[in-house]
Amino acid sequence: MSWAVQFELRLAERMSRLGTETAFEVLNRARALERQGKEIIHLEIGEPDFDTPPNIVHAAINALNAGWTHYGPSAGLPDLRETIAKEVCRTRGVEVAADEVVVVPGGKPIIFFSILALVDEGDEVIYPNPGFPIYESMVRYIGARAVPVRLPEERDFALDVDELSQLISDRTKLIIINSPQNPTGGVLSKLDLEQIAEAIGDRNIFVLSDEIYSRLIFEGKHHSIMSVPGFKERTILLDGFSKTYAMTGWRMGYGVMRPDLAAQVARLMTNSNSCTASFTQVAGIEALRGDQSSVEHMRTEFQRRRDMFVTALNRIRGFSCRMPKGAFYVFPNITVTGWKSKPLADALLEEAGVASLSGTSFGEFGEGYLRFSIANSMENLSRALAKIGKWVEKNIKH
Ligand SMILES: Cc1ncc(COP(=O)(O)O)c(C=O)c1O
Repeated sequence: MSWAVQFELRLAERMSRLGTETAFEVLNRARALERQGKEIIHLEIGEPDFDTPPNIVHAAINALNAGWTHYGPSAGLPDLRETIAKEVCRTRGVEVAADEVVVVPGGKPIIFFSILALVDEGDEVIYPNPGFPIYESMVRYIGARAVPVRLPEERDFALDVDELSQLISDRTKLIIINSPQNPTGGVLSKLDLEQIAEAIGDRNIFVLSDEIYSRLIFEGKHHSIMSVPGFKERTILLDGFSKTYAMTGWRMGYGVMRPDLAAQVARLMTNSNSCTASFTQVAGIEALRGDQSSVEHMRTEFQRRRDMFVTALNRIRGFSCRMPKGAFYVFPNITVTGWKSKPLADALLEEAGVASLSGTSFGEFGEGYLRFSIANSMENLSRALAKIGKWVEKNIKH
């Protein structure tokens, strides 16, 4: 007898507001189709297809052998916090001390912890749309109001500062920005960031700056709002190891923020995870201090794939795609096909054998787009293009 039938599952009300990441659901559907014998090319999941560089793997193995198998401080190992502080000083041009760094299991917890630490029920949080779905999910989960700011294609998916200004209210507690951006590949320029800073002015509003793709940039240089004068104190910088060093499964990321807030986020760590795995953190020190050639190798490889994929996609009827400036996603406009995003993504998965994500997985303003991850081999990307092209020939009228 199932006890689940006897005892009704009475979930907390807030669970009804919790969202998800569709990528994992599409992956499950794709795997089910594979089990039925269908061939699927996976362009849905956002993780590098490379292995973690060997110097990092060896550092973790050595750390395990050396006994780094115990609890550590909630905010992270002092050596790693110091190394991250130096890295952020160097790359963002701001003074950062180790007590402004909190190491957490992945970049994602910084999103949750920042919101938990700063935002009350009824407060407003402005977030990019289309954007990483976890922002809206977490904001709604804690009972705050999620206020989307549109990322228009005609601005190369950089937000419109006038629109942002109109959305800021007395209740705005936090503004989330993300550059390079998931899912559009858009990048905020130094000027964009200065204008965003100007729109915020001297209001007591925090900016959560999600810079998890900071090293995956194809044109120009990465800029952070943390570097804009007057914004260091109001910025929470999110970065990590998952995308830069192909370490998605290791679960390690960090936040950089004023020390009094860092202490509060560390308390949330004590209450949830205790600490990030100790041997993982030792490997993180090697990742940041060791040879960086693998990072550059991955970046140039993603750029080569981007160039090929976008050029070929633009030759397919009904697809029109801007060249993304960063990250490893391609976000074509598909409105001319006459299809809505979700049915098109479903049809491409089931009939063409190509897994992608509907733009609407990233919010309402993602309608009219699909997201393809180019974290796959050139060969698979070419085969995916051929399959999409063939399907379009059959199903989309001139
Ligand atoms: C914009 C953005 N932020 C944060 C994350 C989370 O990264 P992590 O796997 O390190 O938690 C992702 C992962 O896809 C992302 O795309």
